[in-house]
Amino acid sequence: MKVTIINNQDEAGAYVANIIKDVIKDSKRPVLGLATGSSPVSTYKHLVEMYQNNELDFKDVTTYNLDEYYGIDPNHSQSYYYFMNQHLFSQVNIDPSNIHMPSGIGDVALKSQEYNQQLNTDKRDLQILGIGSNGHIAFNEPGTLFEQETHVITLDLKTREDNSRFFNTLDEVPTQAITMGLANIMDSKKIILIASGESKAWAINQLLNGPKSIDVPATILQDHPDVEIVIDQQANKKAQWK
Ligand code: GLP
Repeated sequence: MKVTIINNQDEAGAYVANIIKDVIKDSKRPVLGLATGSSPVSTYKHLVEMYQNNELDFKDVTTYNLDEYYGIDPNHSQSYYYFMNQHLFSQVNIDPSNIHMPSGIGDVALKSQEYNQQLNTDKRDLQILGIGSNGHIAFNEPGTLFEQETHVITLDLKTREDNSRFFNTLDEVPTQAITMGLANIMDSKKIILIASGESKAWAINQLLNGPKSIDVPATILQDHPDVEIVIDQQANKKAQWK
């Protein structure tokens, strides 16, 4: 696993955006797996700047997002659909029909099966990931089987507490989500995981040095041949679980 230490979020964003740029330029039909959360925000900002400076064209890009809250309408300000539109999709020339997001409303079980079929026929060239403080990737919480594909999951209290900063109260944070499974994530040719801050240090230490275990879902990445971890010094400390 390659580890790249960066000084701040902006540097991480510029670094990862440049890798994405190369992936887009190297393929006639690039397929990207995208993530939400604070970690990739700077990356999207740099991608938008590249597009505005005519350095990057999203015309032929196809995207698949990792996850979505269950029961949240796409127009809700905390839906991941809303997040992606705000930070990337509405600001570049991507074809809306090439954007794929799991749906958190309607017949979610059926839609998650359909999403999984699409993922299985359209492999990602690059998957961007963040990491939860408990070691989750996408919304695959501790205990999720490594073989798991797209599914509906009940969120850990820790995850809901971490994400409550985006809502008014903890009660407003959905209790469930639809997420790509760990098997779907592993299907990508290349994976980049971005993390910053001391709250991620325990999970990063487990990922880099811990035993591979379903108790820390991110440790499945130890088996992937092309993973890069982009972290700051705070996330690189060998912290204990709090
Ligand atoms: C959520 C998302 C994950 C993300 C994690 C970390 O739980 N489902 O995909 O990696 O948050 O988010 P942040 O980057 O905001 O710390």
